[in-house]
Amino acid sequence: MKTIRLSNGVEVPALGFGTFQITDPQEAETAVANAIDAGYRHIDTAQSYMNEEAVGRGIADAPVRRDELFVTTKIWVENVSYEGVKTSFERSLSRLKMDYVDLLLIHQPYNDVFGAWRAMEELQTQGKVRAIGVSNFDAAQVVDLAEFNKTAPQVDQIEINPFQQQVKTLQALRDANVAPEAWAPFAEGKHGLFTNPTLAKIAEKHHKSIAQVILRWLIEQDIIVLAKSVKPERMAQNLDIFDFELTADDQAAIKTLDQEESQFFSHTDPEMVHWMASRKLNV
Ligand SMILES: NC(=O)c1ccc[n+]([C@@H]2O[C@H](COP(=O)([O-])OP(=O)(O)OC[C@H]3O[C@@H](n4cnc5c(N)ncnc54)[C@H](OP(=O)(O)O)[C@@H]3O)[C@@H](O)[C@H]2O)c1
Repeated sequence: MKTIRLSNGVEVPALGFGTFQITDPQEAETAVANAIDAGYRHIDTAQSYMNEEAVGRGIADAPVRRDELFVTTKIWVENVSYEGVKTSFERSLSRLKMDYVDLLLIHQPYNDVFGAWRAMEELQTQGKVRAIGVSNFDAAQVVDLAEFNKTAPQVDQIEINPFQQQVKTLQALRDANVAPEAWAPFAEGKHGLFTNPTLAKIAEKHHKSIAQVILRWLIEQDIIVLAKSVKPERMAQNLDIFDFELTADDQAAIKTLDQEESQFFSHTDPEMVHWMASRKLNV
């Protein structure tokens, strides 16, 4: 598996397994165990996915050592403060049944981000997290955090897919030495992504699926990518992307699909900020 080296030297398996919306505990445990069995060594969860306990069980079920895996969790908005990180992270560790995670992210750019960041720097110094980063931060927010703290974010996990290619943000993250990580690479299938004619043509030419073309397109840009599926055949298919290469024409065709906007919602919409602030998980 290709790896991406973060600014602090930590190596991340470039293709990870996402667990968003796998809320049924048995399904989440089985999906994670199946994903590891298929060959994934990078698992992405979050306090807000309400499945850390099941993800931890799925990992415990798998016959691989903990240090062979790369595990990410994220701090939910209500816990984004110095004390909130300290206490909620211990609860995440206890649900995951782990004594460290590989990557800890601030899930959304709201609440006391600077206080949270200081707590995360301390967790990293204590060896409880190997890397720290953010999610859904725009490039200016990332640079702000980097400028006014000892440690710059090592990762920014953002929506990246053929309809939201994030060209400018990617350049700014690279300039700041922050590794980009793609969530919703398939835009969760929205807007006909899995039947898009441009992508279908490229897929047919390479004898691959549209999902494989998208993952390959991201990996070729050195973007860490998270793919989610509860189906073992799709888990395997999504891993099988290391035996072909996109041509310059393929890349140019994919470029034309960019709508330069989120396929979900805007992080600068005040209504979304209200909604996220009001979402109490009690985790
Ligand atoms: N930081 C954030 O704010 C944030 C937000 C969203 C997601 N994420 C992370 O990113 C991960 C990926 O994003 P996502 O789960 O939202 O969406 P996604 O990966 O874009 O799409 C997942 C959907 O695609 C389907 N799928 C997967 N592989 C397929 C294939 N080969 N062919 C056809 N359909 C396929 C899945 O269905 P089946 O499961 O039925 O196969 C599922 O419905 C998440 O799981 C999570 O870990 C982070």
